[in-house]
Amino acid sequence: MTQKDKPAIQIGSVESDPAVSIEVTKNGPYRVHGTPPLHVSVITQNSEGQSWSYQEGQAFALKDGDMLCRCGHSKNKPYCDGSHLKAGVDLTETASFAPLLEGATEIDGPTISLTDNETYCAFARFCDNGQRFWNEVQMPGEAHVKLAIYEAHHCPSGRLMVWDNATRKPIETAEPASLSLIEDPGEGVSGPLSLRGGIRVQSASGESYEIRNRQTLCRCGASSNKPFCDGSHASVKFEDGLNK
Ligand code: FES
Repeated sequence: MTQKDKPAIQIGSVESDPAVSIEVTKNGPYRVHGTPPLHVSVITQNSEGQSWSYQEGQAFALKDGDMLCRCGHSKNKPYCDGSHLKAGVDLTETASFAPLLEGATEIDGPTISLTDNETYCAFARFCDNGQRFWNEVQMPGEAHVKLAIYEAHHCPSGRLMVWDNATRKPIETAEPASLSLIEDPGEGVSGPLSLRGGIRVQSASGESYEIRNRQTLCRCGASSNKPFCDGSHASVKFEDGLNK
């Protein structure tokens, strides 16, 4: 890869070991490069019934080159079993290669600020806690700042980011590369493939999307922003059968 071809890295994100990446195949599954850990990740709720944490579930062994379903129709999820060939789901990539922040709005608070690009919302709802994320950011006091940072870092898609007003830099945490299969029992559905740790996602065209700490890829086949999740799994009631 020449310097010119190097994918963009979002400010505050740290690229994973380049041996780990996800390749979107044309009208087919995700091909995994490297052997990142893969496990089920269940969204748990607090006493108010809001998304609060993740509970790790079943782990799946990955070999370099393994294929993960992105059409929602495999009978051997999370792996592809070739069902996409007959399922008739349009898996055409429609997402922009532009940096996520180009389409983000900004809200400033006294200590921290937020950026928000709703196009990438994976409907995990960690932002609904307390006074809701957008209000928490604007409220003075350490408790509100802590909650806002907590919520942003649990937002699996990277839609939400918090920024330190003093440094004008995002408040981000480097994480090891990992994949997880989100389950959302609060909504009664299965969610996207969550990527953490700056994993490069390569389009079927060969071009890479911007590398970000947190990304979510569509697994139900219904997103309007493929390969990224747009929350459509909730409306189509996607169920992968892995959270039994
Ligand atoms: S992408 Fe192959 S079965 Fe879903």
